[in-house]
Amino acid sequence: MTEDEKGVGARYVVVKALEDGVVIMGLTRGKDTRSHHSERLDAGEVMVAQFTELTAAIKIRGRAEILTDAGRLISGL
Ligand code: TRP
Repeated sequence: MTEDEKGVGARYVVVKALEDGVVIMGLTRGKDTRSHHSERLDAGEVMVAQFTELTAAIKIRGRAEILTDAGRLISGL
């Protein structure tokens, strides 16, 4: 696998959980979209991640602060 495929050098996405039990799901790249990995964060925990050849999108359930190139937003109600 090349560095490019691993996501090395790609931009980072930062997710900070604002409540317990926030779930981040990695969704596959390609024709079908399925969840291939999930991480559960408790309040205050931070995940710093990159998109890769395997991961085209992420889905976040729960209240979290999200930083990306597209800006900053708060998920959840
Ligand atoms: N399998 C989809 C793809 O590679 C994953 C995906 C990318 C996606 N962006 C999305 C799914 C936006 C839902 C919404 O295109």
